[in-house]
Amino acid sequence: MKIEFIDKKLEDINSDLELIVVIDKNFDHDFVKSYKDVLQEANFSGEQDEVMLLAESKKLFVGSESLKSKDIRPAVASAIRVALDKKYASIKMATYLSHQKCTATMRALAEGAILGAYRYDRYKSKSKEPKLKELYISSQEYNSKEVDKSAIKRAINKGVETARAVNFTRDIVNTPPDDFYPKIMARVAKDIAKSEGLEYEVLTKKEIAHEKMNALLSVARASSHAPRVIHLSYKPKNPKAVVSLIGKGLTYDSGGLSLKPSDFMVTMKSDKSGGSAVLGILQAVSRLKLPIEVHGFIGAVENMIGGNAYKPDDVLRAKNGTTIEVRNTDAEGRLVLADVLCYAQEKVEANYIIDIATLTGACVVGVGQYTVGVMGNNQKIVDKMLYAANVASGEMATNLPFNRYLKKTLKSSIADICNISNTRYGGAITAGLFLEHFIKDENKQKWIHLDIAGPAFVEHAWGENPSGASGAGVRMVTRFIEKLASNEHHISE
Ligand code: BES
Ligand code: ZN
Ligand code: ZN
Repeated sequence: MKIEFIDKKLEDINSDLELIVVIDKNFDHDFVKSYKDVLQEANFSGEQDEVMLLAESKKLFVGSESLKSKDIRPAVASAIRVALDKKYASIKMATYLSHQKCTATMRALAEGAILGAYRYDRYKSKSKEPKLKELYISSQEYNSKEVDKSAIKRAINKGVETARAVNFTRDIVNTPPDDFYPKIMARVAKDIAKSEGLEYEVLTKKEIAHEKMNALLSVARASSHAPRVIHLSYKPKNPKAVVSLIGKGLTYDSGGLSLKPSDFMVTMKSDKSGGSAVLGILQAVSRLKLPIEVHGFIGAVENMIGGNAYKPDDVLRAKNGTTIEVRNTDAEGRLVLADVLCYAQEKVEANYIIDIATLTGACVVGVGQYTVGVMGNNQKIVDKMLYAANVASGEMATNLPFNRYLKKTLKSSIADICNISNTRYGGAITAGLFLEHFIKDENKQKWIHLDIAGPAFVEHAWGENPSGASGAGVRMVTRFIEKLASNEHHISE
């Protein structure tokens, strides 16, 4: 879908439909009051994300609790999702501002529209193109506020680019595992490197072995698809900071010999969500031309079973020499990340190191399906990430705090560390603490870990997200990086 900002009054714009966001539940606003009776008769109460189409009047109403981004974004997405299946080719709406000088609402509105228009129907034989192609945004403001047109255009553009990067990530994650394995991940990475002008490097199995990334190789061993380690970099001139992103790219996680029960294996094509988010973030930062150097590292691996599979009881030696006792082959993401984290730290001296992974079911149990778990040693960076998520991007995130007692639960009697903890409690945190083991001392305060196991893939639509892949992590990390660009002091405190 295309979004066009038009410097005309709403009534002077021709379109098939008009979208009205209802903030005032009494329906007394000028845009709404003449439809008050019809809306009430139709039982429309203006709740958040509630949509009502009045086909005869060519009006589409959606409820939003406020003009805040976190409400407008899902409201607009929900409305667009309803309109997408109808006969309308174009839709128009007003400009909405919460304050005269704040364009955040407009960015959220644009994001909501592009995110709501997302569809994954590549595998439907009779997929029908949605008719809806254009959203026109009038410069007429909802409460007759004066508008700064160029600021609004910029905000819309940022929203569009960010949301496109999210949709790009959703497409990757939704692709079935037989059509998306490590080699394909590397190909997609190469494609965006070409189109965005990024530097690109990929390690094949031989080169991975040469780098002594034996934990990753063990996880990959039983698969017929060889692993890849991917490194993309976006290097603007005079960057204000350097960020390394490390993504878990398990193109499939069967659990390995500690095989997942059938019901838990379904949806494990989404175990590549962290790596896919890294690709989306790189696309976003380069399109937004942010003055931050960003490196993306992805461990692309398939975790399978077979005669040569790695086993519970094996002891692996990671790239940094740490020996790991394997007690569960389904805790494979941390093994892959251990090596890729070591590699990333060797390759790039970054101010911020952020890993993104669908790491644990425990995180989903703890905070629910819709929320990202954020962990790290540096509370300031954790808090910055939580702000970027919850306030700026509309992704929900919460902190899961480390502690020294949980750290002890990863002790192994025969190796340096065990890949699972000896307690069944706190599994998201112990997984984060396992990763911390592979962060160099000088980087311990620069690193944070994002567990996106819940929100990355949800099998129903929620807010601005469709059923299936959501593109979790892309918006919040992009916002985090944007914020670094606007801060003078970039060195991690
Ligand atoms: N990929 C899974 C985690 C996961 C679970 C992602 C649910 C998305 C939804 C991960 O590799 C895994 O299997 N983790 C195990 C760890 C356990 C064996 C310590 C888990 O969470 O059960
Ligand atoms: Zn697993
Ligand atoms: Zn996994």
